[in-house]
Amino acid sequence: MEPIIVKEDLYWVGAIDWGVRDFHGYVTKNGTTYNNYLLLDKDITLFDCVHKDFSLMSLENIRKLIDPKLIKNFVINHIEPDHSGALYTFLKELPNVTVFTTEKGKKGLERMFNMEGVNVKTVKNGETLSTGKYTLLFLETPMLHWPDSMVTYVRELKTLISQDAFGLHFASTCRFDDEFISTYSSFELEDAIYDYYANILMPFGSLIKSKIEEIVKLGIEIEIIAPDHGVIWRKDPKKVINMYLDMASGKAECGVVIVYDTMWHATEQMVYPIVKGILDEGVKAKVIKLRSSPLSDAVKEFWKLRGVLVGTPTINNSMFPSVAEFLYHLSGLKPRLRVAGAFGSFGWSAGGVKQAYEFFRKMGLEVVEPGLEINYGLKDEDREKCYEFGRTFAKRVSEFHKNL
Ligand code: FEO
Repeated sequence: MEPIIVKEDLYWVGAIDWGVRDFHGYVTKNGTTYNNYLLLDKDITLFDCVHKDFSLMSLENIRKLIDPKLIKNFVINHIEPDHSGALYTFLKELPNVTVFTTEKGKKGLERMFNMEGVNVKTVKNGETLSTGKYTLLFLETPMLHWPDSMVTYVRELKTLISQDAFGLHFASTCRFDDEFISTYSSFELEDAIYDYYANILMPFGSLIKSKIEEIVKLGIEIEIIAPDHGVIWRKDPKKVINMYLDMASGKAECGVVIVYDTMWHATEQMVYPIVKGILDEGVKAKVIKLRSSPLSDAVKEFWKLRGVLVGTPTINNSMFPSVAEFLYHLSGLKPRLRVAGAFGSFGWSAGGVKQAYEFFRKMGLEVVEPGLEINYGLKDEDREKCYEFGRTFAKRVSEFHKNL
């Protein structure tokens, strides 16, 4: 890739990672990008770094524009290794640079790298820096999504360099939202936003909401959002802001996702009449089989819909391991405003469904009880029970959704 103009003197100089499929456990089936940006001004400024495997690619992009030795300011908005990993290589090429980061960013960088001899200046919320023609406004965004995080607003370009916020894990030839929509579709763009938010940002909904409101109160005009992953929002930055506000408020479609796994197919057989029951209640349904689908897909679909039904066989008096992994992971994401129920089959001893409900209660989800457990395979009367279970659950989801 070549460097690409974002606006006037601001360039994308990042790298595309077509091949990454495991992003610290999150399945990135479409790869990702590591975006960093170069501002050409009296004091040339580089915003963010890239993954260490892509340092040469980004440096090559920079060299196509300037000699890296001329870079004066190096803004590190976020120190997670997908952004700071190449820092050491970069610093060798940027001998005259001052690094700007938050206090926590500085501490983190000192733990991760030998920063001896590097000029590091810490910045606080609301501080500004002039680069000549342009003014940078630093806004701390702690826990979005690490304690060190901040974003930088380039005032005269009305551009927010937003690090992880408003990002997507999607490697493509498209650097901008409008290009992505014409090459792929709006649906794929929205799906990628859900995927990223659900798997990375779900626990921080209230922080996201208050930070966006704080930025809006500052009265700063945002024409472009340039995140550190995925597309740059130039056509419709409000779209992603509004989607974030909706997701941060727990907004979801009225529907049910069934997330299940199966041992000898009895739990799987229960899914079919349950789905019919949900649909007959006029509620949409989606089905995700664990071990056939990435965990991150299950999390995304969970977050899109109001209700979740978890299907688990019992093994060794416990939930099936893949189902336990899903619920364990989900509880760390601190979901809210979702309705949950469980079903499954057992042989000589039940227990998996009961355990699933323990997880739901700990997460503070709205539960629909009792769950449904079937001994061994399904008989006709069991299919009827499954159907009614699906109908009852869908009715409760629908009521809960309407009353929000
Ligand atoms: Fe893209 Fe928090 O790293």
